[in-house]
Amino acid sequence: MTDCYGVIGYPVTHSKSPEMHNAAFNALKIDACYDKYSVKTEDLAQQVSLFKEQLSGWNVTVPHKNNIIELLDWVDPVALAAQSVNTVINENGKLLGYSTDGYGLEKAIEAEFGVNIKDKYILLVGAGGAAQASAVHFAAIGARKIAVVNRTVSKAEFVTDCIEKLSPEVATYFGGLQELPSDVSEVDIIVQCTSLELDETRELDFSFTDISSDAVCIDMIYNKKTPFLQKAEAKGLRIASGEQMLVYQGAKAFTMWTSQEPSIEVMKTAVGIK
Ligand code: ATR
Repeated sequence: MTDCYGVIGYPVTHSKSPEMHNAAFNALKIDACYDKYSVKTEDLAQQVSLFKEQLSGWNVTVPHKNNIIELLDWVDPVALAAQSVNTVINENGKLLGYSTDGYGLEKAIEAEFGVNIKDKYILLVGAGGAAQASAVHFAAIGARKIAVVNRTVSKAEFVTDCIEKLSPEVATYFGGLQELPSDVSEVDIIVQCTSLELDETRELDFSFTDISSDAVCIDMIYNKKTPFLQKAEAKGLRIASGEQMLVYQGAKAFTMWTSQEPSIEVMKTAVGIK
């Protein structure tokens, strides 16, 4: 019987996950399919109970990474600490939640810039589910300092509180989008984690004035050079959009579902990375 998988989110029309996973299934001759499901928050619980009958696993994207937690039977401790799940495994009706976002971002930064997270100072712009998961992951793998700035400051503080509990040796800072830390010129890696610039007409109010041109800048948004990345590039930073993060977080989810290693090359080609 064909195993079915998918991605649930709102909006989800832009998602390239189906192309990527279906190409990886085909390459390994696995009888499986992957589709996208546009589901509003008020319909999430009903959809998850349908998925329990229909899907072997699924990815979770904006805005459900947090809301889905209460609908699952078990959540991985790191994903629980970050309050963010992007991968669900349906184990005979028992729903298990994980986050592969931090791993995906780590691997993307290595692949794009040859930069390792260890001992680095990272500035996360945004404090949603993917940012939370990445912050917790980066702290666990030896980041030196993690600063989080966000429109809603309490969410940035929640992220740094998580880091302080799990990895107290990592220095932290939180603030609003215009309240950058006083040592921001020492930041090594900037990650744009907000969803604002998914909307073509909108631009995040963020200033690169005090940021060093030696820093690298990656955006979680994929398929385009966002205004955020354009500003970083104009300042002389090396930049990357989110395609590789998409591939690596997806590859890890794929392995969790199938116990097989997908071809990274096949997945990259499917999302248009040369
Ligand atoms: P994901 O799960 O992909 O991380 P999310 O949890 O919905 O997505 O988080 C979206 C992020 O984009 C948050 O940092 C959010 O800021 P708030 O915490 O203040 O909501 C940010 N974001 C969304 N719309 C925004 C806007 N208009 N201006 C600034 N930030 C915005």
